[in-house]
Amino acid sequence: MSDEKVIRNIGVLTSGGDAPGMNAAIRAVVRSGIYYGYRVFGVRRGYHGLWRGDIEELNGRSVSETLQRGGTFLMTARSKTFNTPEGVDKAVEMCRIFNLDAVVTIGGDGTFRGALDLARKGVPVIGIPGTIDNDIACSDYTIGYDTAMNTAMEAIDKLRDTASSHERCSVIEVMGRHAGYIALNVSISTGAEVVLIPERKSDFERDVVKMMLQGRNQGKRHYIVIVAEGAGDATDIAQKIEAATGIESRPTILGHLQRGGSPTVRDRHMASMMGVRAVECLHEARYNRVVAYKHGEIIDLDIEEALKASKTISQEELDRAKILAL
Ligand code: F6P
Repeated sequence: MSDEKVIRNIGVLTSGGDAPGMNAAIRAVVRSGIYYGYRVFGVRRGYHGLWRGDIEELNGRSVSETLQRGGTFLMTARSKTFNTPEGVDKAVEMCRIFNLDAVVTIGGDGTFRGALDLARKGVPVIGIPGTIDNDIACSDYTIGYDTAMNTAMEAIDKLRDTASSHERCSVIEVMGRHAGYIALNVSISTGAEVVLIPERKSDFERDVVKMMLQGRNQGKRHYIVIVAEGAGDATDIAQKIEAATGIESRPTILGHLQRGGSPTVRDRHMASMMGVRAVECLHEARYNRVVAYKHGEIIDLDIEEALKASKTISQEELDRAKILAL
């Protein structure tokens, strides 16, 4: 790290929950970094690895055969040690010891907050949005979202077969932390009768029981209820449905299954483009930026601005989902 901020060596890390496509983003940072004349260093286990100095130089071959692999070969962690002023100071010291002039961090909001801590101590950073939840406000898309939705969709299609054979209700809990993007879009794509998301307060009688009884009167013989993890618990909801409607119900929690698997075209492509853009930012001396996808374009914005942004699911989108569930 030098005062003039001449970038020669770049660190790259993945932090927080892994997401399919993270390897493609690392690969893009490594290859475009080398293309622009930088040395690129992989930091293992996110900020925890930075704090510990778990750092190794990567070359074009180190990232061969990673594009199609799920997870992150650099590994990831939710670091508690880094989340203290002393932890940040030690990470900054490690950047100095390993001559890292800038760090590209791939992850969610927590990852960007960590990056901002580094930036405030003079380490130039670039953030790349990587999380299956699609809950990074400054970006319309986050790496891993498409693969996770496809995984959930395939699982729900299978659950539909058995729900249909037994004339049951299948209550499926999907990930998303405090956001309902996976739940809503997967519900539209699987033809679910009901979707519950944290962005909208729901009324069990009106939004679940009535919808299901209405469906039964119209001749439906099975029901798919999708619940975002931030909106309720599939086991509780299945029990309540069975008690209120008499329709036999089974809960399924898809859980970490949604975080794995080979990334889809969309995730490989988006991650690759975002990774290149991150290095271009450094090359153009545009420091402390977050790469984002907005209105069909890859852009970059100031990291503090990015962390202040907000986004949510509109009532219109929910209404459309309801029309399709009739
Ligand atoms: O942010 C990604 C995510 O998979 C969320 O959807 C979920 O709430 C959380 O991570 C689970 O975290 P962990 O893997 O630490 O249990």
